[in-house]
Amino acid sequence: MAFDQNRTALVLGAGGFIGSHLVKRLKREGFWVRGVDLKFPEFAPTEADDFVVGDLREQQLVRSVIDRRFDEVYQLAADMGGAGYIFTGEHDADVMHNSATINLNVLDAAHKRNIRSVFYSSSACMYPAYNQEDPDNPNCAESSAYPAAPDSEYGWEKLFSERVYLAYNRNFGMQNRVARFHNIYGPEGTWQGGKEKAPAAICRKIARARSGEAIEIWGDGLQTRSFLFIDECVEGVLRLTRSDFEGPVNVGSDEMVTINQLVDLVADIAGKTIERDHIPGPTGVRGRNSDNRLIRERLGWRPSQPLRSGLERTYDWIERQVHRNAA
Ligand code: NAD
Ligand code: GDD
Repeated sequence: MAFDQNRTALVLGAGGFIGSHLVKRLKREGFWVRGVDLKFPEFAPTEADDFVVGDLREQQLVRSVIDRRFDEVYQLAADMGGAGYIFTGEHDADVMHNSATINLNVLDAAHKRNIRSVFYSSSACMYPAYNQEDPDNPNCAESSAYPAAPDSEYGWEKLFSERVYLAYNRNFGMQNRVARFHNIYGPEGTWQGGKEKAPAAICRKIARARSGEAIEIWGDGLQTRSFLFIDECVEGVLRLTRSDFEGPVNVGSDEMVTINQLVDLVADIAGKTIERDHIPGPTGVRGRNSDNRLIRERLGWRPSQPLRSGLERTYDWIERQVHRNAA
């Protein structure tokens, strides 16, 4: 370990989509980085200086990877996926048990090791379902969290864990940070297998389709979402971590589109005419958009990249994965 020479960071969940991108960014900034995950990143070698393959549900493992000398600690490990994973109900017990256990272990060890601050990745899925019924007017202001009514057990676990991080701030003088991510996408994200989110799923389906063909879309496609490109997500994570604001704060795009508009945008990028075959499927809330007033006020920054530019880079990457797999 090089604690004496460099700024150092610990990334839990470093084998995942956001964690692996965060490691790359920290390396560019000159950090010495330790990553921990059940697995190595799927699509590129890790850039972490030290990578521990281990299970963060194991308290001993967590205690062994957290060192008091880490300057920054990021907690991104979770049992998670897109609508096809979290809204079917089939994984509820695992999602709640696995993610809550990780967060309880991490906080216990961080506190005992005198870590000042842990960044925690919560989700917009913790917002109440009753504020996300009108696709044109969802309310995801940070202050709208209560009375609590997330529409998934994944969202309930996120809300519970947020509260534990903030309780450690109040009771033990920690300065943990809590961000609520809104649907993050980009290259090297899960794009097949059941855990992929709508941007990756739609890129994959369009990459596989011929012009003029139809792709399957869950629901009527009039449900709304906003999608944040990975680079801006990482930027938001670092800005929040290094600020004096604990959150919770939305880290998301406020460019809201319907899923049908998302399909049309990707089809245009691909240069294909694509029909839509609307089929029943897990749809989640009817509307969701990031409310960026608080992040702008407290961090003096908010995500601003147009959806199209991030989708161009994502489609390009997924199209290459599709061709590689086919070959
Ligand atoms: P991801 O699934 O790609 O990464 C999560 C990583 O955690 C995986 O690599 C997984 O192997 C690891 N992990 C799971 N259980 C573990 C365990 N017991 N021990 C060690 N590692 C374990 O997901 P992501 O998109 O990179 O998301 C990162 C974080 O951001 C998660 O907490 C997620 O809930 C949150 N989040 C993501 C989004 C999004 O749109 N990607 C939106 C809201 C919140
Ligand atoms: N995944 C997927 N695949 N979604 C599809 C598809 C498809 O082929 N076709 C239509 N959709 C619709 C879903 O039914 C849903 O209404 C919408 O696209 C968005 O789905 P996802 O991107 O899978 O998830 P989400 O936005 O409901 O939730 C995601 O974002 C949260 C944060 O905002 C998930 O990644 C959560 O884990 C995350 O916390």
